Amino acid sequence: MKVLVIGGGAREHALCRSLSLDPDVTALHCAPGNAGIAEVAELHKVDALDGAAVAALATELGADLVVVGPEAPLVAGVADAVRAAGIPVFGPSKEAAQLEGSKAFAKDVMAAAGVPTARSYVCTTPEEAAAALNAFGAPYVVKDDGLAAGKGVVVTGDLDDAEAHAAACMGTASAPAGRRGSVVVEEYLDGPEVSLFAVTDGETVVPLQPAQDFKRALNGDEGPNTGGMGAYSPLPWADPKLVDDVLHSVLQPTVDEMRRRGTPFSGLLYAGLAITGRGIRVIEFNARFGDPETQVVLARLRTPLAGVLMAAATGTLAHLEPLRWSDDAAVTVVVASHNYPGTPRTGDPITGLDEVAALDAPHAYVLHAGTRRDGDTVVSAGGRVLSVTATGADLTEARDRAYTAVARIGLDGSQHRTDIAAKAAAGA
Ligand code: AMP
Ligand code: GLY
Repeated sequence: MKVLVIGGGAREHALCRSLSLDPDVTALHCAPGNAGIAEVAELHKVDALDGAAVAALATELGADLVVVGPEAPLVAGVADAVRAAGIPVFGPSKEAAQLEGSKAFAKDVMAAAGVPTARSYVCTTPEEAAAALNAFGAPYVVKDDGLAAGKGVVVTGDLDDAEAHAAACMGTASAPAGRRGSVVVEEYLDGPEVSLFAVTDGETVVPLQPAQDFKRALNGDEGPNTGGMGAYSPLPWADPKLVDDVLHSVLQPTVDEMRRRGTPFSGLLYAGLAITGRGIRVIEFNARFGDPETQVVLARLRTPLAGVLMAAATGTLAHLEPLRWSDDAAVTVVVASHNYPGTPRTGDPITGLDEVAALDAPHAYVLHAGTRRDGDTVVSAGGRVLSVTATGADLTEARDRAYTAVARIGLDGSQHRTDIAAKAAAGA
């Protein structure tokens, strides 16, 4: 099978790594990729948001399957263009990707499907936002309706900050046409968060193993929201029935509702959940693999990946053998640039990559996010630079291996959290 992966972050490196280990994959291509992906796939320069260009590349390569990693190309309709060229694609249509592209749309689908989520108001004026904030009280939750790379959400106890974020979102153009400038104000959900991914062909839903992400920039869940600073799987503290419960109360009803609307969702449905005292609530849906959760989930998947993605792309998931999982634990620590999640500094050389590769493979390895090759050196090229990933018999061993590897990496001004999976490893 010839596979083309679209994207260039650590999630795509994780996808490419798993695909490169799959004996059914005879050729692996990635566009645009990064310096790490270049070691397992052939890179191509193409604008990932240009559906016609991606479809042309897939046709030229004779790709049997295209896997679209990030949300932006999905929301831009890249999967539709590839499908129209007659090539199976893992990733939802532009219309179905609105589950992630518009928080207001996702709320509407959840209401119709009876999926439990935070109560919310969609507001289009500062006055409406102020009334909604007042109705729910503190802590306040204000979300940009459109895509914002995980940074459009403000959770704060300060009413002025909440109102200021609402006003700022109303002035931006990131929301989709027709909903431009709207914000979602919702009730605060208390409790641990879980990311649960499911592969679906629009009808059959196959959940993966749950993971937990660390969204805040600093230790102890302090500081601003980021794209994600680390992750681990499995979740020793979670109810063993969690996956089944979410399948029946969230994932299957959502997929059924999307099909009923005539916009079936195929690809990866990501449920961001809060486990509250009153039960499971959906915080958000995403229409693609999560980053950095994918790094730990795929580290534990034993079933070869290409066949799973192909079954979703071709509507044959009902015939797929049950997925096989390793009993190992996995931990990912994100190494980010100076000043992330603000405007990150880039162009800094990264050292120690060869040392990590020699140190503890295959238990610890570095997945690249924002990197590029500059002559003989690899330099930073984005906010999140590396996802250092390790497996072990339990979370303590996986953590130790991940942090031992992180200590070998040199990147001037870089930052990482030192508490990824610490509580879970300690049994708290
Ligand atoms: P989202 O982009 O919707 O995933 O939100 C980013 C992060 O903001 C989530 O992972 C949560 O940590 C936090 N968040 C979002 N909505 C809520 C809510 N209703 N209550 C508490 N925290 C929330
Ligand atoms: N880790 C959060 C996300 O991928 O949206």
